[in-house]
Amino acid sequence: MTRDEALQILITLIKNENLIKHHLACEIVMKDLSRYFSPGENQKEEEKWGLVGLLHDADYELTHDNPKQHTLVLEQKLQGKIDEDVIYAIKSHNWKNNGVEPKSKMDWSIYCCDELTGLIIAATLVHPEKKLASLTTDFILKRFKEKSFAKGANRNQIKTCEKKLGIPLKDFIDITLKAMQKISAKLDL
Ligand SMILES: [Fe+2]
Repeated sequence: MTRDEALQILITLIKNENLIKHHLACEIVMKDLSRYFSPGENQKEEEKWGLVGLLHDADYELTHDNPKQHTLVLEQKLQGKIDEDVIYAIKSHNWKNNGVEPKSKMDWSIYCCDELTGLIIAATLVHPEKKLASLTTDFILKRFKEKSFAKGANRNQIKTCEKKLGIPLKDFIDITLKAMQKISAKLDL
């Protein structure tokens, strides 16, 4: 499946603009994480990781009232059209609800960056300049440590990057922020 085909599926299924942006953010972060793990010639892998980010919540609006079905409805739509490991990564990012445990670095990457992209957007909105370009890793780290800030962003889930990806939290925030800054115009931030 090409990126354009994946984007078509996404915009057919998702009507909420912020949710579309969430997918674009996760796409770019996943691509950069792929490059972090295997630098150099890596285009196929990078595209694959990007597709995981671009599609991972595409059935969110369809399964809103049924979290256990989230990702499983999407699986049915993607079956046979995309690599099995992409489907597995998508499903396993909802492992707490569906029991499909993440295994590979790609699986754990979407699980960890999913929540962090949300925290970074929330942090941008409370920053005086409200621009991704003005944000620093330290600013986000401070917001991360404030329990009352963006309560919905699961800190434990983000911190899994240390155990499962071997990336210290600060570095993980840095990679994620830099990736998102590259598409700040698309994110309107
Ligand atoms: Fe997500």
